[in-house]
Amino acid sequence: MPGVVLVVGSYNQDHAWTSDELPAPGATRLGTYASGPGGKGFNQAVAASRAGARTGFLTALGDDAAAATARALAAEEGIELLAEVHAALPSGTAGIFVDAAGRNVITVAPGANAALSADYVRAARPAFAGAGVVLAQLEVAPDAVHEALALARDTGATTVLNPAPANAPTTAELLALADILTPNETEFAALLARHAGQSVDADTLASSEDDALHALCQSVQATTWVITLGGQGAFVSHAAPGRHGDEASFYRVPAHPAQVVDTTGAGDAFSGALAAALAGNDAGSFAEAVGFASRYAALSTEAAGAALSMPRLRAR
Ligand code: RIB
Repeated sequence: MPGVVLVVGSYNQDHAWTSDELPAPGATRLGTYASGPGGKGFNQAVAASRAGARTGFLTALGDDAAAATARALAAEEGIELLAEVHAALPSGTAGIFVDAAGRNVITVAPGANAALSADYVRAARPAFAGAGVVLAQLEVAPDAVHEALALARDTGATTVLNPAPANAPTTAELLALADILTPNETEFAALLARHAGQSVDADTLASSEDDALHALCQSVQATTWVITLGGQGAFVSHAAPGRHGDEASFYRVPAHPAQVVDTTGAGDAFSGALAAALAGNDAGSFAEAVGFASRYAALSTEAAGAALSMPRLRAR
């Protein structure tokens, strides 16, 4: 069904410290602190919803204050929440450090997210049956992600996998279940090393020749890739011309200028907005959807925080 996005992924309570510079190993810095909702799954669900899609969010929570916050926020955002409760586990948490340029480093303790079961996902089949796009990441149990994408394939949804974080496990079978993969440079370099045995410096990817980058993408998995390149925009690579209505097999989409405050969740903004655009009744070309996601992600960096920094753009 067009217009509906189902996000399968994590909810984390984010604890964010901002200082002029990121702390070096062994260093202590003075700064400021804020706590707020996050998790790649929830951030992407909020982005999809605020970008105009009817959105469902399937996750796992503990039985704690963070879980209560997740429920309240999902209701506030109009997101239909499907949550497997693991009362013996804490809800997910993330420690985030942000510098004056808006750059961040993050460590996630998955908590209940790691216990999301394939059985729970399977039992949610009716939610999958109503979705035009199913979007997942890698902060919940790998079996649950695999089940979600397999179920989505079965029910005819477009499957989008944001393969993040970079050190999460992936299999060739999982990648093959994704119609669209949306890594950033670091995540792409990790996939390239793991699945194609090729080592590249993530920092050099944005300046690679287009045909070389396209070949690298397709050497990992023959599918559609949208690599987010931060201030350098995004790179699209299709397994063949004509995929998702695009004539070109590969092309770049420019970045949108932004007054950057905090890049936390920018990749999530991109994936959520892309899913919303692809699911929309008024969906334009794939390149337009990527351009929309790129603008949306740029705007999300102009506010601090993760889920709550997602721009409200009901009309595209
Ligand atoms: O992508 C940003 C997110 O990564 C944060 O909200 C944090 O919770 C981690 O999941």
